[in-house]
Amino acid sequence: MKLVDNKATLTFSNGSPSVDLPVYAGNIGPDVIDIRKLYAQTGMFTYDPGFLSTASCQSAITYIDGDKGELLYRGYPIEQLATHCDYLDVCYLLLKGELPDETQRTDFHKLVTNHTMVNEQMQFFLRGFRRDAHPMAVLTGLVGGLSAFYHDSTDINNPQHREISAIRLIAKMPTLVAMAYKYGVGQPYMYPRNELSYAGNFLRMMFGVPCEDYKVNPVLERALDRIFILHADHEQNASTSTVRLCGSSGTNPFAAIAAGVACLWGPAHGGANEACLNMLEDIQRNGGVAKVGEFMEKVKDKNSGVKLMGFGHRVYKNYDPRAKLMQETCNEVLEELGLGNDPLFKLAKELEKIALEDDYFVQRKLYPNVDFYSGIVQRAIGIPVNLFTGIFALARTVGWIAQLNEMISDPEYKIGRPRQLFTGSVRRDVPAAARK
Ligand code: SDX
Repeated sequence: MKLVDNKATLTFSNGSPSVDLPVYAGNIGPDVIDIRKLYAQTGMFTYDPGFLSTASCQSAITYIDGDKGELLYRGYPIEQLATHCDYLDVCYLLLKGELPDETQRTDFHKLVTNHTMVNEQMQFFLRGFRRDAHPMAVLTGLVGGLSAFYHDSTDINNPQHREISAIRLIAKMPTLVAMAYKYGVGQPYMYPRNELSYAGNFLRMMFGVPCEDYKVNPVLERALDRIFILHADHEQNASTSTVRLCGSSGTNPFAAIAAGVACLWGPAHGGANEACLNMLEDIQRNGGVAKVGEFMEKVKDKNSGVKLMGFGHRVYKNYDPRAKLMQETCNEVLEELGLGNDPLFKLAKELEKIALEDDYFVQRKLYPNVDFYSGIVQRAIGIPVNLFTGIFALARTVGWIAQLNEMISDPEYKIGRPRQLFTGSVRRDVPAAARK
């Protein structure tokens, strides 16, 4: 970041001395006002619940232009990466800053493939859960539990440890997500197969059974790989900020990623794809397209508490580019599976059409986000609704790791410790009546 020949001067109407604050610029995007010395100079904090106007860090990994609806991973547009690369290429890019050359690509794919198995003891963690446990509850436990097995890669300040724990997490997430699914349906776990692709391996671990060979459908394999790419990273979103704050205490990478899994689960964040598909199925059950108008009235009525899940975004105030790519993938998969007339897909497209013409949504710049179509394509592939967020967590693991590693390598980083505006009781004594 570079100092800008401009400064912010804070003046106070009560005559308190004004304060000059430096302004820094990045390569693209808004400049920042450096307030690190504000408390020392004024005795005051800034106040920004939800961090709507706060840059928590400097980062070179992902950039979003919310007004243009643009998403860049290390400068490359998501549309080009989703079309020309595979997920492991994108993992390499996010972790190392450049796309791999042929040798680097082969070595990286091989390295990840050779770490896809998990310790045999991991299966005993699952036995403690009820069969109907939500997969995200299981995954939060399993990912945190990884730190119990890999003491040779838990020192977050050791670059070698960071390197191997990154590979282990990227490689093992598909295995763990598939194990959570198999445990829920009472089927045996499927071991990964080294001759399969990352996405192909996941499909076989999910839908294969020991009784027969599993043939990977290349259209579904490509669709899933693209879904992973679209979800890989997204600036300082809630779960990434959780991973950074958690990791800033120096805890091990597995624990920090487990915190990200837990945060992603929320319906306002990664849980929106599950909530969106449930919403579409509810509308379908209650009359389908004919009932969309009635549903939209509820969404616009603040008192109803009903939101159009899969719509709106803290940053995108235009169409989420991932939603466009997801809709394309939806078309491809539904065509491949002969589900071109899928009623939910038709309902979603009708809902989108109505929303994009409705003043309530236009005024608030509410557009479909990544979650609006992802549920339909995942359901078509056969992934159960309650596993959608697990797939999101699988894909986002590389983004969380890249962001965590960037923070740890940043000489300016220190343990995160926000302050507050205190509005509670001033000092008071325990009353005699309450004294024991
Ligand atoms: C993800 O941050 C990321 O990058 C996240 C993510 C990633 O890749 O990591 O992109 C993944 O989390 C995508 C978002 C998934 N969530 C949903 O689809 C849930 C539905 N969306 C809303 O909950 C909401 O849009 C948020 C939480 C996503 C964004 O919240 P904001 O930016 O704080 O929006 P807001 O609440 O300030 O909304 C502005 C207005 C409000 O109305 P007014 O008070 O101005 O009258 O729009 C309304 C909101 O009530 N609004 C919606 C709405 N989203 C916002 N009204 C109906 N339906 C919606 N979906």
